[in-house]
Amino acid sequence: AAPTQYQAESASISNGLVESNHAGFTGSGFVNYDNEVGSSVEFTVSSPSAGQATLTFRFANGTTANRPMDVSVNGSLAADELSFAGTGAWTTWQTRTTTVNLNAGTNTIKTVATTSNGGPNLDRLDVEPPSGPPDTVA
Ligand code: GCU
Repeated sequence: AAPTQYQAESASISNGLVESNHAGFTGSGFVNYDNEVGSSVEFTVSSPSAGQATLTFRFANGTTANRPMDVSVNGSLAADELSFAGTGAWTTWQTRTTTVNLNAGTNTIKTVATTSNGGPNLDRLDVEPPSGPPDTVA
């Protein structure tokens, strides 16, 4: 199946702002995390089945410092201090991928900044759901 796209500006934001002053984002903007530990964005995503899903975060980091974030799924840490390295400019957007286990149905995916720099600017999360059972061959 194709990944489902979740815009960061439509997610639940804690200590961050929706902005649109750096070109190249998708949707109507991106989230600028406050420059502090604990600023966060929480996505609510739906999965058709339980299993391993691929998460692809689209982000920009115009500094040279990594801006790691903890990724929690349904309240449990799933990726510890996932790195979001500098992309060269705030208008240069790259992707960072990780795999997590999702439940069938509704899941929460929360990304929390772990340094005083806050998170990167976050444009979008794409979720590739767990692969289903193989197609039946006639
Ligand atoms: C700059 C940039 C913001 C970014 C911020 C940061 O102010 O314009 O988009 O979020 O730096 O360092 O987090």
